[in-house]
Amino acid sequence: MFEQQPEDLRFYVKQLATEALQKSEPSTWFEVLYTGAKGDTAKIPWAKLTPHPYLQDWLKNHQPFASGQKALVIGCGLGDDAEALAHLGFEVTAFDISPTAIAWCQERFPNSTVNYVVADLLAIPSQWHQAFDFVFECRNIQALPLNVRSEVISSVTSFVAPSGILLLITRVRDTEVEPSGPPWPLSDSELAQFENVGLQQVEKLVFLESELDVKQVRIEYQRHNYLTDLNYTAKA
Ligand SMILES: C[S@@+](CC[C@H](N)C(=O)[O-])C[C@H]1O[C@@H](n2cnc3c(N)ncnc32)[C@H](O)[C@@H]1O
Repeated sequence: MFEQQPEDLRFYVKQLATEALQKSEPSTWFEVLYTGAKGDTAKIPWAKLTPHPYLQDWLKNHQPFASGQKALVIGCGLGDDAEALAHLGFEVTAFDISPTAIAWCQERFPNSTVNYVVADLLAIPSQWHQAFDFVFECRNIQALPLNVRSEVISSVTSFVAPSGILLLITRVRDTEVEPSGPPWPLSDSELAQFENVGLQQVEKLVFLESELDVKQVRIEYQRHNYLTDLNYTAKA
């Protein structure tokens, strides 16, 4: 999963991201990358053309799912994670800021039931507020710089319905010192923000890739359902 990217691709990504950050536009370089790839998936560093293995593992251990549950895939890239959820009966919405990425998903999966949408995580439609039973956030927060991190985390958590699940896959760092990205792995205090905005941690797994000095986590969060709590209190 963490295989080394070709040096020239890593250099190009760093250059695109640095230029975008200088203009205070942390998300604009993704569309430049997708367009420049001209349909060649080898030019998209995160594209593995298969669902993320940590998502697959979680899904395998939590089946079966009631059909028609609403799922949201954030920053869906080329769509493999969204398709995996759709195959399990979820009603999936998947969005990305890059119109080229969304068009690419539609081209790769012409018979898909997934609702692929161009949308900005930092300007989300109000109807998505607490509207999804399952929200999947994989490697997008780490791709955005620290000066928008609080806003991004609030946005990601805002999609989760009462009693709904957020599954987060991200690189993490062991210090609060700002890393040199991209990616910008999350710190402990940044992870704590998920719980400060109404989610509870259900399970956390840590994955180490020592040869690349990469530490990843998969964290399952659930939104507290205060209405259910009130019902229990009322019945007691
Ligand atoms: C590092 S890639 C990860 C893609 C996918 N989640 C995965 O794990 O393979 C980050 C993705 O987030 C998208 N993205 C970046 N900024 C975004 C934003 N503000 N709103 C929505 N998507 C965004 C990019 O276009 C890109 O597809």
